[in-house]
Amino acid sequence: AKVSLTGIKPSGEVHLGNLVGAIRPALRLAEQYDSLYFIADYHALTSIRDPELLRHYSRSVAASWLAAGLDPARTTFYVQSDVPEIFELNWILSCVTGKGLMNRAHAYKAARDRNIEAGEDPDVGVNMGLYNYPILMAVDILIMEADVVPVGKDQVQHVEYAADIAGSFNHLYGDSYSFKIPEAIIPESGSGDVLPGLDGRKMSKSYDNTIPLFLPENKLKKLVRRIPTDSTPVEEPKDPDSSAVFQILEQFAPDSAADVVADTRKRLQEGGMGWGELKNILFEVLNSELAPMREKYNAYMEPGSELDDVLARGAERARERASRVLSSVRKAIGVD
Ligand code: TYM
Repeated sequence: AKVSLTGIKPSGEVHLGNLVGAIRPALRLAEQYDSLYFIADYHALTSIRDPELLRHYSRSVAASWLAAGLDPARTTFYVQSDVPEIFELNWILSCVTGKGLMNRAHAYKAARDRNIEAGEDPDVGVNMGLYNYPILMAVDILIMEADVVPVGKDQVQHVEYAADIAGSFNHLYGDSYSFKIPEAIIPESGSGDVLPGLDGRKMSKSYDNTIPLFLPENKLKKLVRRIPTDSTPVEEPKDPDSSAVFQILEQFAPDSAADVVADTRKRLQEGGMGWGELKNILFEVLNSELAPMREKYNAYMEPGSELDDVLARGAERARERASRVLSSVRKAIGVD
């Protein structure tokens, strides 16, 4: 079977964007693909320097996957740092990757641009982990020989980099071993764009504008109220597609709520629906979908839950796969 793989970085609580952009599409693919899911804890190390916090977020990302319906018996579910083969291949692939490619990576460029805008030295606060980030991500994908990588739109460049880096390696060593060339799969829901956050920009842990998946109900309600809206009066027509509240509703709503979404769109366009009512609708749709997941999440987060065993078994399976590929690579480059 073809292989699908995706990861989430434990640098904050898992949020609606992660669910819509990655978790749901990945779980759907698990029906046809051989699936691997992981917690990208060494990617989080570029920004999280508090060990307790890194531990907490790693557990929390794992519990979120399980609460969302990941079946550990039918998939390979592991923590990146439990697979040391990844870090050996990271060095090998960094030696076939052009520096110019890394200079053009979005996340690194964005960090530099923020510094330049602030009149600072461009590299202030930029560590080599951030710079090399795309190579480690390429390794995550290539070492498991993934065919497809379900991700949100913001990660597409990284998957293209993985394909590029695989191409460079194959060009040099393809007679002995060739990596599979991976392809990104982005969700079809809504505009196919990233889910907006509380301030209307992309919902992102690094912008601190997220709606975490497993907030208590009253906190969830409060956050939904904070999403910005304009001052169009209740009775006037509104453009659903330029409202962050509506976009979140449309992208998040499960198929069973398709009627609610269509009806809401119509009523906004006709006039007569105020932002307050729209926010109530969004809250109801979110909460009825998330409430059952929230209970499972809380159970997995209890100390002594089955979480640790599940991840230990996953690590074993992931290492088996990774070491097979790594030994072919070592042979191909001449260090066997
Ligand atoms: P991360 O942790 O930032 O996000 C995890 C997944 O959620 C998607 N996503 C979104 N989708 C739609 N709208 C949003 N607002 C939104 N925010 C996040 C992301 O696109 C991603 O699919 N570098 C990756 C983690 C990673 C990885 C990998 C992914 C490491 N190695 C190998 C795939 C394959 C990251 O930081 O994702």
